[in-house]
Amino acid sequence: MCGIVGFVGRRNAAPVLLEGLRRLEYRGYDSAGLALLDGGAFTLVRRKGRVAALEDAARGKAGKVGIGHTRWATHGAPSERNAHPHIYGKFAVVHNGIIENYRALKKECEESGETFASDTDSEVIAHLLAKYDEGDFLDSVRHAVAGLRGSYALAILCEGRPDELIAARKGSPLIVGERDGEWYVASDIPALAGKGMKLCPLSDGEIAVLKRGGAAFFDIEGKRIEKEWAEYDTETSAPQLCGYPHFMRKEIDEIPASIAQTAAEFLKKPANQSLCEVLCHTEYVQIVACGTAYHSGLAAKCAIEALARIPAEACIASEYRYRDPVVSKSTLVVAVSQSGETADTLAAARLAKERGAYLIAVANVPHSSLTALADHVIPTAAGTEIGVAATKSYNAQLIALYLLALSLRAAKSGARDVSSSGLASQCERDGEDARLLETLRALPALCGEAIAASRKTKEWARRFCSAKSIYFIGRGCDHAAAVEGSLKLKEISYLPSEGYPAGELKHGTLALIGRDTPVVAVMTDRALAEKTMNSVHEAISRGADAYLVTSLSEYAERKEFAASILVPACERLFSPAVSVIPLQLLAYETALACGNDPDKPRNLAKSVTVE
Ligand code: M6R
Repeated sequence: MCGIVGFVGRRNAAPVLLEGLRRLEYRGYDSAGLALLDGGAFTLVRRKGRVAALEDAARGKAGKVGIGHTRWATHGAPSERNAHPHIYGKFAVVHNGIIENYRALKKECEESGETFASDTDSEVIAHLLAKYDEGDFLDSVRHAVAGLRGSYALAILCEGRPDELIAARKGSPLIVGERDGEWYVASDIPALAGKGMKLCPLSDGEIAVLKRGGAAFFDIEGKRIEKEWAEYDTETSAPQLCGYPHFMRKEIDEIPASIAQTAAEFLKKPANQSLCEVLCHTEYVQIVACGTAYHSGLAAKCAIEALARIPAEACIASEYRYRDPVVSKSTLVVAVSQSGETADTLAAARLAKERGAYLIAVANVPHSSLTALADHVIPTAAGTEIGVAATKSYNAQLIALYLLALSLRAAKSGARDVSSSGLASQCERDGEDARLLETLRALPALCGEAIAASRKTKEWARRFCSAKSIYFIGRGCDHAAAVEGSLKLKEISYLPSEGYPAGELKHGTLALIGRDTPVVAVMTDRALAEKTMNSVHEAISRGADAYLVTSLSEYAERKEFAASILVPACERLFSPAVSVIPLQLLAYETALACGNDPDKPRNLAKSVTVE
């Protein structure tokens, strides 16, 4: 989604901004632009399409202060005129987020004779800055943002102030950086990669004034505030392909390490007494999330109910706040998000907290809006994920949620210390718990074997890429893997696909299945296998080609399947972490067979910071 980079320094700003924007490319965007100040008027360069086109156009442009942006269109088509920065009067602004009251604000401006140069909601911010301009840059920003409803991360320049940049945030992430007396601002840490960078994330309602001589922070009233800085070796936040053709492929190979690290971090954390209390009193678990993270919630729901015997529900975060959810003090709400910045997940998490729930965040980005909001954070340690199609972060989410399920189980059985390190010792005391924890610890190796077993997906992909539509079916936990496999496939191959509980097929979707329709069955639960086979036969009888991902060797050779992949067997509740791997690789190979770039799917963004 949209990305922001800003710079105040002693060097030319354009190369710094372009490097930052390149580092944000993976997030998805459709146009890019930058504005520079070199004493006089703004130099504005904007282009539809890739940062490479902007780079050509910006060659030779001077200015030691600048702001840059990659735009993912929400209001107004992807075009040069809608690309940021937007300039009005003395002000140039780049904006992430959505201004919900922009129509009313724009109407007011137009009624007083102002004209607009774009169709965006963001341009109105530049008009407001001009409206409140009485010569004090900070005051103009404070008054302008006070009139905005919605979410924003802003970087703003003012003509006549050639060594100054102001940044402001509400509901959309923004981080200030400093290195060697030069100042940076960015919407995401990867844009600020480099050794020795000190970082300071802004909180909602905060404003940063960056000048060549230093940075100062203010609240919305203009009162000076002190902020804490932390040094990051952000070199590690800018992953390289390391010989892989695509980040998605590399990230699938990183799954075993991601889940091993996630489990290790969970189990080494010191016990947390208030979390233990909460888990002991939990009567209902709601997992709120979107997309792939929601699918990890579907798998976790099965595990929590089966292991802890506590009712659990996976909730689509974008629906949550509109259904007036029932939440009480004994409800544990778990918000799952790779980025920690997904607007819908954040809104659901805020509502749950307002209603009295204890909020656990399962997040891959450590300093995010979600981790700041949560009462307790379970980090997933997948490392930066560049591919828009989430892979290793999903598997890491599963492991974090399975460990939470084990903690809830221990709490239910009366154990007092059920958090983190306490869980490990509790498990040593109980035979069945010890077995479950050992099974979890074995998952990295099993995932590695599943990657090796999935070579055949290249051959499957050659057949799938010409299909009209593709269906994924499974029962119980296998259903969770099936829906994730389907989402992966549609995201990057652009082929219509659905994931279904196998038994639901006959209640409608079967009407769409005909000659040569690929139907992929996920089957890892022996107790449910024959039931799933009934659905497979129903599809085959209508002309479908059935494919199988299974851990049950007796089914792998069955003749009714066009092809099958045998993955290693594991505890059925944890099986999605393994069985999803062939499906992730199938999506990757099918995207390639369709001629698509799997890392940059059309229309999609890595982090969806708008509702
Ligand atoms: O950053 P989040 O985990 O909150 O993102 C949620 C979804 O937008 C995300 O999982 C999306 O569905 C992925 N592109 C799927 O591959």
